[in-house]
Amino acid sequence: MKKKIGVKVLGTGSCFPKKVITNVDLEKIVDTSDEWISTRTGIKERRMSEKDEPTSELALKASLEALKVAGISPKQIDIIIVATITPDMFFPSTACFLQAKLNILSVPAFDLSASCSGFIYGISVAKAFIESGFYKTILLVGADELTKITDWTDRSTCVLFGDGAGAMILSASESNEDILSVFLGADGSYSDLLFLPAGGTRSPATIDTVNEKLHTIKMRGQEVFRVAVPKMVLAAEKALEFSGKRVEDVKLFIPHQANMRIIEAVAKRIGISMDRVFVNIHKTGNISSATTITALDEAIKTGKLKVGDIVELVAFGGGFTWGATVLRV
Ligand SMILES: CC(C)(COP(=O)(O)OP(=O)(O)OC[C@H]1O[C@@H](n2cnc3c(N)ncnc32)[C@H](O)[C@@H]1OP(=O)(O)O)[C@@H](O)C(=O)NCCC(=O)NCCS
Repeated sequence: MKKKIGVKVLGTGSCFPKKVITNVDLEKIVDTSDEWISTRTGIKERRMSEKDEPTSELALKASLEALKVAGISPKQIDIIIVATITPDMFFPSTACFLQAKLNILSVPAFDLSASCSGFIYGISVAKAFIESGFYKTILLVGADELTKITDWTDRSTCVLFGDGAGAMILSASESNEDILSVFLGADGSYSDLLFLPAGGTRSPATIDTVNEKLHTIKMRGQEVFRVAVPKMVLAAEKALEFSGKRVEDVKLFIPHQANMRIIEAVAKRIGISMDRVFVNIHKTGNISSATTITALDEAIKTGKLKVGDIVELVAFGGGFTWGATVLRV
């Protein structure tokens, strides 16, 4: 009988732009306060990319770090997947820009769009590629620059988002199975609660769409909040069930960092105490598909996770999309 191919996580990496925007900085541009933002969201500061620093640039730095940790060269990568909703351009894909920057020409590369759940969707695709025998070594990136699609006059959204990138190298293994389960979901009937109205084929860019700021994120925050909590709970519970693990087996729970109150509500419903929940939202804000992978990378770097520990990533985002994965570090 043919032996099942397992997946090994070889390494992770991350990159944040240098510029820090604090809540106090935001007080100077919209009618808000550090107190409001901190208590409603948990965010204190976020990183902002430079004008000449596109998503692929952050993706490159995160990828180089992940390659270094994995101890492999770019030439050993068989395919590149970049989860993003803020690509360098509509096309070519950010994955193609990244491929050229890594100088691994002819390696297949594509983008994946699933908003804040993008990295977990990417894990599912990477796992399937490896298990099918199609590709052996995969570079998976979650990278977003939400500050570039933010309306800086809208206080209800501009305080929430930031920029960053995270990367993971996954490889075929005969002895390991690090990705214990993945669960994904989506419901497109909620597409009007969190979206970017113009620039696509439904409403191509015109002077009017620019003047009306339709190339920036629009969100009905409270309604998003209400759906996010039960869907994240569902995803977390399903992924745990599929993995055969129990809540007690999970060393660290890494939820999408969108709002501290969402994180606390989800943790409470799953029955996991906050000391086992990873939080870095205070310094990152919401960085969409980069959130769970950069948080995982930080948890590994800071020693919160050791080799062999079980961790669960859970995300929710525009679409709506949601997903969770249980993996072994
Ligand atoms: C956006 C969010 C923080 C708003 O918090 P909220 O408690 O729901 O606040 P509301 O939208 O009810 O607004 C309450 C008041 O604060 C005001 N307000 C909104 N943003 C503000 C800001 N940055 N500073 C000060 N006041 C603000 C509103 O105008 C409103 O004022 P009003 O009562 O005079 O009308 C919250 O709904 C949220 O986090 N939702 C989920 C969003 C999310 O995570 N999206 C990404 C998912 S991937």
